[in-house]
Amino acid sequence: MANVLVLGAAGFIGFHLSRYIADEGHQVTLCDNFMRGKQDLDFANLLSAPNVRFVEADLTQLSSFNLFNEHYDEIYLLASVVGVRNAETQPHEVMRINTNITHNTLTWAKDQHHNIGKILYASTSEVYAGGVSLGHVPVPTPEQIPLTIEDIRNPRFSYAISKLWGEACCLHYANAYALKISIVRYHNIYGPRMGFAHVIPELLMRILNGENPLTVYGVDQSRAFCFVSDAVKASIKVMRSGQTNGEIVHIGNDTREILISELLEQLLNIASVRPQLSLNPAPEGSVKRRCPDITKLRQFTGFAPEISLNEGLVKTFEWYSNYFTKELRDRQC
Ligand SMILES: NC(=O)c1ccc[n+]([C@@H]2O[C@H](COP(=O)([O-])OP(=O)(O)OC[C@H]3O[C@@H](n4cnc5c(N)ncnc54)[C@H](O)[C@@H]3O)[C@@H](O)[C@H]2O)c1
Repeated sequence: MANVLVLGAAGFIGFHLSRYIADEGHQVTLCDNFMRGKQDLDFANLLSAPNVRFVEADLTQLSSFNLFNEHYDEIYLLASVVGVRNAETQPHEVMRINTNITHNTLTWAKDQHHNIGKILYASTSEVYAGGVSLGHVPVPTPEQIPLTIEDIRNPRFSYAISKLWGEACCLHYANAYALKISIVRYHNIYGPRMGFAHVIPELLMRILNGENPLTVYGVDQSRAFCFVSDAVKASIKVMRSGQTNGEIVHIGNDTREILISELLEQLLNIASVRPQLSLNPAPEGSVKRRCPDITKLRQFTGFAPEISLNEGLVKTFEWYSNYFTKELRDRQC
């Protein structure tokens, strides 16, 4: 049985990852400050498991790490401010919070060296998106491409810059202090309990609210979506593979890259509705294409995505549909 620490455990990926590892029977310590993560029934159920412990703490404070005083075989560093809206409205906070969390984790890890097994750092495809927009990198995109920030002054890119900095910080601390670290770049992970600030839940919300005409942005953009259970399994495989130490690994689903117009069509079919459409351009700075090359992930871990897009969208639709029905019921009470 391993002792596992999940930082950012009340968030989208953190919750599903923690649930999976707890169900495997490992001892799991969860940490979050609920900046975005939710204290909902799902999270309460997870906390009720006998092998799960929860620590509420702000990881931008180095002193918070004094609360983690055990040996940890696996540390998943997922805590971060994410989302375009946060980057656009508070880029300075995105920089402060994301860099402080990463630096504090690494400072604590180097000081606690004998108590640390391995760290997995969650980065993002956004670190190379500028290269795609400028036509410098191929799509599907492998790991070993130059990372490009199109405009350092544009608040939107503060998130990518904080993650790019985080990757470099992890690599240099790993070398300097002999820490075992892997970096994963997630690519469009989706599924139940992912909040509302991403294309799939935004569309679902509008569809479930009966919006007509239905507002849609960037139908000419394409993405390769990866269901969260696949992302969780891939993350655990990267963590547990000796070959991935010191490596950057793309996590996503390369089996199907689709246009947002096709995604919309599929969601409308699942919901069995046919509203009029109000088509709008994609938000400025949003990359036109995104699809990971996951050859490295396959080679190092043997991972293969299991959930088809349709299967994942049905599961996600059902979760959001139940969520809204309950919300409506609660409002009427
Ligand atoms: N979901 C995706 O498709 C995707 C894509 C690329 C990268 N990522 C990365 O994966 C990680 C997880 O993403 P997610 O979608 O689950 O995000 P999320 O926002 O749902 O989860 C992040 C969690 O970190 C917590 N957090 C923020 N600041 C904190 C602090 N100071 N102290 C303690 N906890 C704090 C939040 O409350 C939240 O629960 C993030 O690092 C994100 O950058 C995700």
